[in-house]
Amino acid sequence: MGIQTTILQVSAAIGLYILYLITTSIRKRFENARFARQHGCLPPSKAPVDWTFNISRPFVIAKIRKQHKFMPFTQAAFQRNGNTFATSVAGKRLIMTCEPENFKTILATSFKDFDLGKLRHDNWAEVLGNGIFTVDGAEWMHSRAMLRPQFEKSQIMDLDDLEKHTQNLLSRLSSGDGEVINLHEYFLNFTLDFSTGLLFGESVNSQLGHDTSAFAKDLDYAQRVISFRVSLENFWWVYRPKAFTQAVKNVHRFVDQSVQLAVDKAQQGNKEEKEGKYVFLEALARETRDPIVLRDQMMNVLVAGRDTTAGFLSWIFYCLARNPRVWDILRQEILNDFGREKPTYQQLKDARYLKWVLNEVLRLYPLVPSNFRYANKNTTLPLGGGPDGLSPIFIEKGERCVYSVYAAHRRKDIYGEDADIFRPERWGEGKARGWDFLPFNGGPRICIGQQLALTVASYAVVRLVQNFERIGNADMNNEELGDLTLTFMPYPGTLVRLYRDAQASRSSD
Ligand code: HEM
Repeated sequence: MGIQTTILQVSAAIGLYILYLITTSIRKRFENARFARQHGCLPPSKAPVDWTFNISRPFVIAKIRKQHKFMPFTQAAFQRNGNTFATSVAGKRLIMTCEPENFKTILATSFKDFDLGKLRHDNWAEVLGNGIFTVDGAEWMHSRAMLRPQFEKSQIMDLDDLEKHTQNLLSRLSSGDGEVINLHEYFLNFTLDFSTGLLFGESVNSQLGHDTSAFAKDLDYAQRVISFRVSLENFWWVYRPKAFTQAVKNVHRFVDQSVQLAVDKAQQGNKEEKEGKYVFLEALARETRDPIVLRDQMMNVLVAGRDTTAGFLSWIFYCLARNPRVWDILRQEILNDFGREKPTYQQLKDARYLKWVLNEVLRLYPLVPSNFRYANKNTTLPLGGGPDGLSPIFIEKGERCVYSVYAAHRRKDIYGEDADIFRPERWGEGKARGWDFLPFNGGPRICIGQQLALTVASYAVVRLVQNFERIGNADMNNEELGDLTLTFMPYPGTLVRLYRDAQASRSSD
């Protein structure tokens, strides 16, 4: 009797719970449909579902990513399904878009409706902790406010440190004339030295022989694991090899040393700013002594500054090595404008062809080619709905919107029939660009280091092109490498031969 009553009670409770789930789901459907109707939304096109109902999708994507084919793969998906379409991963709908109007809505006009989300935070937090790249809301605003002074124009205009690190780069490159080198490795050291000097107050000077190779290797490996785990979706945590845990520990130990120095300085009441410069870590150490907070903030800006700029430089020389015509025009402009002298900030800004080359590289190889945001409430995107894709679409709270800058930058209806071709001259054809050119993101979370990155890259390009007469492509793999730019994924190689300019060699002897 007792048992029967209990069974009845449990069954009734389960029944009620199921009823509750069904009614909640029906109510939600009605509410969503009403919201969609009120906003004139129509459904987007749908990518076909595979025989596993897309359950195997994360594994398929992980494999494509490993082959560095993910970007061409998504570009082809847009060509098949339209510029905005719905797909599903592990049973959950997600929206894919390469529509500039939708970029604008996600990143600016409806900024408050979207977050970076838990997946990005939790996956990245193991390396970056809670910093500007991983947090939303008030925490993000605080980090952003702390960083802003670092990137004020006056800080960027001071090019002395840049010259020092570029000269170190040139000395290393000049030792072998015409030898095959992997430029990317040189650029990683260059940007590490520059970024640590700027952000930590003291450069690690890896180009002067201070061995930072273990740190660089560990950081690269940790980022590769993180990047791979994105494709495992909510199961990202399943993949945590022992080597990863060790690499993260090593990277943290490395950053902690610089943090300790800054805390010591702050404790000694040393408030003067080195040569009038704002040093981010020192400013932060005056605000908090919490070593974890300090480490997290520093990890975030270090990764932001080092890898992206090194990757950018690598892609520039990757393109130049394959386009001797562009190299010749660029070199002519640089020698005409600057001779063999150091360029000033304003001169860099005024160098027309250099700017076109940089834009064209960022267009074809954006360093963050694909990104995503989660809706934190029911909302809409302006394009993608209905048979012609011109109506708004409904986005349900919690849904993920993936926006592909890579695919937008290669759209033939935007950039013309030769959109896949490297042709810097297109930037002189008078077409104003807005949300259809988005290498640095847009809206309130626009890259805070944009001007700095452009200045560093322009400066290094000018100094290298002044010193080398010719560049040869030594890469055996001439295939179009579609997605080596995957978010924070280190670029594996830019194999080139650099031939010294006889005149530059004479003047430096
Ligand atoms: C060519 C070089 C660079 C490119 C292409 C680039 C691109 C980007 C992009 C696309 C974002 C948006 C990421 C997102 O919201 O999901 C971003 C954010 C950011 N970038 Fe850059 N970046 C570059 C260099 C730098 C440098 C040199 C620094 C600083 C040293 C920097 C600091 C940041 C920071 C702090 C954010 C986060 C901004 C925020 O969320 O408020 N970036 N960058």
